[in-house]
Amino acid sequence: MTTVLLALHALGAVIWVGGMWLLHTAVRPAVGQLEPPQRLAVMHGALARFFPVVAIAIAAILVGGYGAIFTAHGGFAGLPLHIDLMQASGWIMIALFGHLWFAPWRRMKDAVARQDWKAAVAAIGQIRTIVTINLALGLVTVVIGATGRYWG
Ligand code: HEM
Repeated sequence: MTTVLLALHALGAVIWVGGMWLLHTAVRPAVGQLEPPQRLAVMHGALARFFPVVAIAIAAILVGGYGAIFTAHGGFAGLPLHIDLMQASGWIMIALFGHLWFAPWRRMKDAVARQDWKAAVAAIGQIRTIVTINLALGLVTVVIGATGRYWG
């Protein structure tokens, strides 16, 4: 059971963090040369496909992570430090994603639908800031999760 739960957990983490890495280091620079209407259309198409996947990845991370706390660690009492750190950083990432989903992403979708490129550029700037923070947190969290059993 622990194997299944941690497989789910690790897949959720790799898809979320890997997706943010691709967006940040490849997709956004690649579309940077385009005019705002084309650039925003491509980014809107990419984000509209990626964000629902992130929501599923978060569900997998939570079910797998909290499931494994019970199957592998016998519950919350006396958890090793690395799991507490992972939970803390994980919940910050989830809260930031929740804000992104309900505020700037909603504004960007509305702005693109209205073809209001100025508002869409402002909204995608906020999305980029949040994704950058979450990417940094995600990389640190993956290292904590993967190495913590040797020091936590
Ligand atoms: C939000 C609550 C979270 C909980 C309750 C949680 C829980 C756990 C647990 C119990 C383990 C097994 C570690 C061990 O037994 O030494 C683990 C491993 C791991 N976690 Fe988390 N985690 C959370 C969030 C995250 C996040 C947000 C990420 C990355 C984005 C992440 C990435 C990893 C990785 C890479 C591993 C090692 C691979 C594995 O064993 O599956 N975790 N986590």
